[in-house]
This record gives sequence, structure tokens and C-alpha cells, in this order.
Amino acid sequence: MILRPTKDNIQKAATLLKKGDVIAFPTETVYGLGAVGLNDQAIAKIYALKNRPKINPLIFHCLNIDWIKDIADVPPLAEKIADYFIPGPLTLVLQQKKDSKVSKLATAGLDTIAVRVPVHPIAQDLLSAVGTPLVAPSANLSGRISSTQASHVHSFFGDNIAAVLDGGDCCYGLESTILDLSTQTPTVLRQGAVPHETLEDVIGQPILTSSSLEKIKAPGQLKKHYAPSLPLRINVAIPKKGEAYIGFGEMECMFNLSPAGDLFEAAANLFKFLHQADDDQSFKGISIAPIPKKNIGIAINDRLMRASYQEETDE
Ligand code: TXA
Ligand code: MG
Repeated sequence: MILRPTKDNIQKAATLLKKGDVIAFPTETVYGLGAVGLNDQAIAKIYALKNRPKINPLIFHCLNIDWIKDIADVPPLAEKIADYFIPGPLTLVLQQKKDSKVSKLATAGLDTIAVRVPVHPIAQDLLSAVGTPLVAPSANLSGRISSTQASHVHSFFGDNIAAVLDGGDCCYGLESTILDLSTQTPTVLRQGAVPHETLEDVIGQPILTSSSLEKIKAPGQLKKHYAPSLPLRINVAIPKKGEAYIGFGEMECMFNLSPAGDLFEAAANLFKFLHQADDDQSFKGISIAPIPKKNIGIAINDRLMRASYQEETDE
């Protein structure tokens, strides 16, 4: 059931969540598949619906920093970062509060917890109506392209979920950046909607990335992820016959991420075009133009690398 985001429908979605259902809602990054973060049964439904490995923990979505403080220890650096980026598309990994009652299933038994405060007004209204944190992974089957429109969510889950609140297109179109502050050195575990440079400017020091630590802590970092069903080739100047071509900058093509060469516009269109091309029976594959590796373009390239990753085989 796709619901218009009226006051009544947001209330209805909150009631469904409180009785243990799973519903999808828009955030500024991508759509989330939400459940109450204290309800193990509802969280188990999320893992089953997404076919998500249980070792992959979920992000807790909070209304504000006070809610974060109820479930996580917030050191001074996190406080400083929060002043600047919260609410917004940044997830922090923090030490979980010792007496926190959140679901161990959702944290995969770790002593850390991922938290974020979405700025999207529908997500904010929904959190207010529920009154407790919501866990919300991206609303897609595990390993597949995230949803940036209600119709994407519906095509993954149909009526297996109780409702989708329709907020139109997500404005960033890429998942939140994940910053780990639970260890000595702040580390980006997933490149995302907040560009790396912006984070470094605010923190005032270089930030590591998980690959530089050679440690896979966020399974969003798995080699193959965000994948369409069709084969995807990246950094392509000239497409092959039968391929859907996704361009960037001044060029004539069916899908152009941003004719003006704007990387934020490109990020917002990326998953939408991948879904469209993937759903079109007339294509045999998808190829995509080179995207500049700067600013949010770093996160775009990260997603494309993973979406196009082919396992090496002996054949
Ligand atoms: O933009 C977003 O973050 C979206 C919207 C819906 O908020 N959500 C999202 O959730 O992308 P998901 O589940 O698709 O990705 C969450 C990532 C996973 O890679 C998970 O491994 C990581 O967060 N994560 C969660 N808890 C963690 C923890 N304690 N330590 C390290 N990584 C964690
Ligand atoms: Mg995801």
C-alpha cells in the first residue's frame, strides 16, 4: 500500500510500526525499511524481507541528538560533528550505552551502534509520532540497488510490507556517509552523501577510510553491492549495442545524470536511472560514463565499482 504523506497517513504508519509492522518511509538519502528499534520480532522481519545476513547491523534513526544520547555515548568530537551535520545525511558509529535496551539483533551483538538523524520532514514527523528510534536499512533486497522512489520500494516488496509513505524522489539519492567515532581515529566506513572533504574540513584533520585500514566493518563495503540485474560496465566512453548508456555532462544520451555536470544532481539521479535501465526489457546491459572522482563523485564511484564488480571465476 503506497500512502500519500498526509498527517493522517503518517499517524497510520506510526500505529502500524508500534504494533510491530514494517513500513517504508523516505529520507533525504534513500528510502528506509523501518521498524521500531526495540522490537526484535519486527527487526527479524526486516532481515527476512531483505534477505540480509544477520551479521550486518542496522542504523538507528533518531529524532534529535537527545535520542542519540539515550542509546549511545557521545564524546566531545561527536558533539562537535553533530552540531554541524545533524540533522542530515551523516551516520555516526558510537559506543553503545551500557544500559541501552535496543535490540541486539539490530546491532548484530556489537558493542557499538550506528545512529543518524534524518532531516527529511516525513521521517521527522514519523519519528515524532512513534516516539522511539526506528531502525531502517535501505529499502531494497540485500545487495541490490537502493530505492529513491516509493515505486522502487513497491517493486522490491509489494504487499509484503504494510505500507510505503510516498515522499517522491529522495534529494541526495545516495546513502548517508558512515563515520566511525568509536575508535581512536575517526574513520569513514562508507562514503556517502556528505563528501569526505567536507568532513575533513569540519574535523580539521585527515580522516581514514575503512579500506585504508583494510578492515571491513560496514558490510555496505562488501565488494559486490548496489547491483542491478543486468551487467554493468563503468568508465565507458562508447556503449556497446544493446546497452543502456548512462551519461554525464554535455552529451546526447537516453539517460544523462547531469547535463550540466553537477555531481549532486548526478548522485540524485544515479539509482533512479539504474532502476529504469534495469527494468527495461529491451536492454542487455548497462554502461556508464566516467564520473569525476571528487566531492560526492567519490561516493558515486564507490557505488559504481561495487555495482559492477564481477567475482573472478576459474572459467
Ligand atoms: O542513508 C542511509 O544510511 C539509509 C537511510 C534509510 O537512512 N540507510 C542505510 O542502511 O543505508 P543500510 O542498512 O542499507 O546500511 C547501513 C550500514 C551497513 O553497511 C551496516 O553494516 C552499517 O551501516 N552499520 C550499522 N551498524 C554498524 C556498526 N555498529 N558498526 C559499523 N557499521 C555499522
Ligand atoms: Mg543498504
